[in-house]
Amino acid sequence: MLPLHPEGRACGKVILLGEHSVVYGRPALAAGLPDGVTLRARPLEEPMGPIELAVPCWDLDLVLRPDTEHPVGRACLEVLTHCDGPVTGWRIEGESCLPSRAGLGSSAALTVALARLALGPEGNRDEVVQASMAGERVFHGEPSGIDSEVAARGGVIWFVRGEPVEQVRLGRALPLVVVPSGVPRSTADQVAKVRRKRERLPALVEPLLDVLGRLTAEGRACLERGDLDTLGELMDLAHALLGGLDVSSAVLDELCHRARHAGAVGAKLTGAGGGGCVIALSRPEVAQAVRSACQAGPDAPFSVEIEPR
Ligand code: PMV
Repeated sequence: MLPLHPEGRACGKVILLGEHSVVYGRPALAAGLPDGVTLRARPLEEPMGPIELAVPCWDLDLVLRPDTEHPVGRACLEVLTHCDGPVTGWRIEGESCLPSRAGLGSSAALTVALARLALGPEGNRDEVVQASMAGERVFHGEPSGIDSEVAARGGVIWFVRGEPVEQVRLGRALPLVVVPSGVPRSTADQVAKVRRKRERLPALVEPLLDVLGRLTAEGRACLERGDLDTLGELMDLAHALLGGLDVSSAVLDELCHRARHAGAVGAKLTGAGGGGCVIALSRPEVAQAVRSACQAGPDAPFSVEIEPR
């Protein structure tokens, strides 16, 4: 069994366009949030001692015994076992700038970073993604894989269920403000809500999902030619349509409104909705104003720049 590598890193994520419609076969665009999670490993004096995992910013301080019932502990053991990595004898400490359970892909970032501790920073990316998904299944049942893919790749990805992931070539850097609403949400509940609406009103909901899919394709073209103004318009439209699917909320609508008023080119909920986060496309000269206008929950809004590649 090979030792762990000293450091493993992974990105967090936001869904730029295509949440919910991606469940029904339409495309989604997701962006990797740089510096999502960094894990560092060092050997314990006792090689047979259970692995210790501490991520203080998430209040995580676990001992990974084989019979652990803690979902994070179980997920981490799944990842290490999948990688044929050690399951005893190491202490792993983590740092993150992502709030957990806010739809920013913190669990995928953790499992990708852990897979990289086991497989190395140059480890095969598909293997890293597969190992991450073994852990993600503990958290999310049957995840689509979008979080693990973007956590491992960074940049912006084009994702269609069951098809190979494509890396999007950005025409220019993508400046975002990420606004945690402070409102907890359940992805499963939000997905179930859309499913029920689609079953009750298929003739209305299917065309809405089609428009969200087409809007995502337009969004990709905007990203490729660096057209932030049109992309912002598409984000506003996506937010309105997601509201039509009943996955927005008064708090999320208000945050989008405040971001636009402070100078954002566009703003929308990201991920499952009902709570979680809003993203605002905000050029650097307005980013500070957008962040100040959008302070909501305990976690402060933050800026990220997704670099072209
Ligand atoms: O749970 P979140 O916020 O990372 O996003 C879920 C995205 C959905 O499209 C709503 C569900 C899915 O499985 O793609």
